[in-house]
Amino acid sequence: MKAIEIRNKYLDFFKSKGHKIISGAKLIPENDPTVLFTTAGMHPLVPYLIGSPHPEGKRIVDFQKCLRTDDIDEVGDNRHLTFFEMLGNWSLGDYFKEDSIKYSFEFLTKVLNIPVDKISVTCFLGDNDAPKDDVSAKIWEECGIDKTRIYFFGKKDNWWGPAGQTGPCGPDTEIFLDTGVIKCSNDCNPSCDCGKYIEIWNNVFMEYNKMEDGSFKQLSQKNVDTGMGLERMAFLMQGKNHIFETELFMPIISKVSDMSENPEEDSLRIIADHLRASAFLICDSVIPSNVGQGYILRRLIRRTIRHMRKIGFNPDKITDVCVTLIDNLNNMYGELETNRNNILEEIKTEKNRFMNTLLSGEKEFIKVINKLKENNINIIDGIATFRLYDTFGFPPEVTNELAKENGLCIDMDGFKVCFEQHQAKSREGSEGIFKGGLADHSEETTKYHTAAHLILESLQKILGNDVIQKGSNITAERIRFDFSHPEKVTRELLDQVEDMVNAQIDKKLQVVCSEMLLDEARKYGAKGIFNSKYGESVKVYTIEGFSKEICGGPHVDNTSKLNHIKILKEEAVSSGIRRIKAVFIK
Ligand code: ALA
Repeated sequence: MKAIEIRNKYLDFFKSKGHKIISGAKLIPENDPTVLFTTAGMHPLVPYLIGSPHPEGKRIVDFQKCLRTDDIDEVGDNRHLTFFEMLGNWSLGDYFKEDSIKYSFEFLTKVLNIPVDKISVTCFLGDNDAPKDDVSAKIWEECGIDKTRIYFFGKKDNWWGPAGQTGPCGPDTEIFLDTGVIKCSNDCNPSCDCGKYIEIWNNVFMEYNKMEDGSFKQLSQKNVDTGMGLERMAFLMQGKNHIFETELFMPIISKVSDMSENPEEDSLRIIADHLRASAFLICDSVIPSNVGQGYILRRLIRRTIRHMRKIGFNPDKITDVCVTLIDNLNNMYGELETNRNNILEEIKTEKNRFMNTLLSGEKEFIKVINKLKENNINIIDGIATFRLYDTFGFPPEVTNELAKENGLCIDMDGFKVCFEQHQAKSREGSEGIFKGGLADHSEETTKYHTAAHLILESLQKILGNDVIQKGSNITAERIRFDFSHPEKVTRELLDQVEDMVNAQIDKKLQVVCSEMLLDEARKYGAKGIFNSKYGESVKVYTIEGFSKEICGGPHVDNTSKLNHIKILKEEAVSSGIRRIKAVFIK
């Protein structure tokens, strides 16, 4: 069964159980500066998990593109990827454990026809924060799962969330398929990561909210949040040995392998995974840079190039691989086709940039290690690792891999210290990220969200309708707003934008939220993204007589709640994309 069939069957199954299909969100969380990427299907749903009503109701299903960089070192085994697709179904204060488990069981055994005795499950063992989950275990038994295949584990294994420091979370029950291949010992169990048991689906019973002081409070509603890894499911359903043998990756792997002098499996997998992730990041307007998401993209592309060179693949042919990748996946992800030229262009440009310094960087690396070897030292210190990064563009994991190949290691902590000192000196860096919980909806950030709508509308009125919002990043201290525009915006024009925004604040305009179908929103003249396939309802925020935008909110109810803004900075982020930074004047 192909991955796309699994996806379609999943959506259809939950639709038949009263779930509304919604479009997944972008890889870059909108209105959420606290995390770099969407790492789970629940990210865009946080406001609804903590109580705000979802316009589509209480039963939701979707497929969501996710990126996890904490798994980066594990790429190459049989089940880890950086970019992956998560299928998810949610109960927002509707059904709970019983229906959730029964739906999962029915889908696996009746729709995908997986034999019951291949399934093992784990439940929460209980601790001071929440009791043992005997309820889930009993439901699994009723479904027909043998007692010997029901395991109990603590928080490390059977608790999920919050995705940031604070937010919705709870005990989970995880579903594993037993590959039957003994890899470590006869009494191996699902908590072992040898690869015998593959986790395919996680049902999280989100009834708690983790607070800033570390305590867990009951949420006002009991939710279910689930996630099934599409690529894992595909390889298991196809009887393959690993993810990279599926149709999602095989054409890319074969292409690179055919064009390499000495194709090594690990490098082929890293190349296939990293290029795929890079292509999707570019689709969501990320460009290689030295900060935030752009820095992750840069590292993914540069590591790809390093591995290409390692296996004797000419990096100048990198775009040939991208073409295969796009051709292979565009039936599942239309955005790859829409962004074809952009993907090829950005990856080629970054390749050229890296190749310019790669050779001198490799020479520098050899100098460094020769000196260390002379002195019988086997660790490359933070300063040398940072110099390779700063002067020669070597991401630390590239230096680390080169070091390992030479029997050395790097001082990663030392590197981080140098990196942070440099970041602090040079600019805002990855400001705010990871500090707070998910979806910081404090009063200040809410005000900035409303300011963003005023800024977009003013930019369009002053610079013309070719201005399209390309992203925004809000903290309690400032807003960064990216938009398309072919040239630098003069201070005079920035002043006009500022004046227009401030005039709307002075006019004390009402901000009203209404829900409507996407088609109606289009007719109503709301700005926003209209690429939804499912004709779902959306929220539209109208700023009385000034702007109409599709947006999840939240917003202030009147522009008089905002202070005047000041645009501090205007700069290019890439060709045709400008960034402004603005603050409220207190
Ligand atoms: N949010 C849960 C996960 O990512 C479903 O595993």
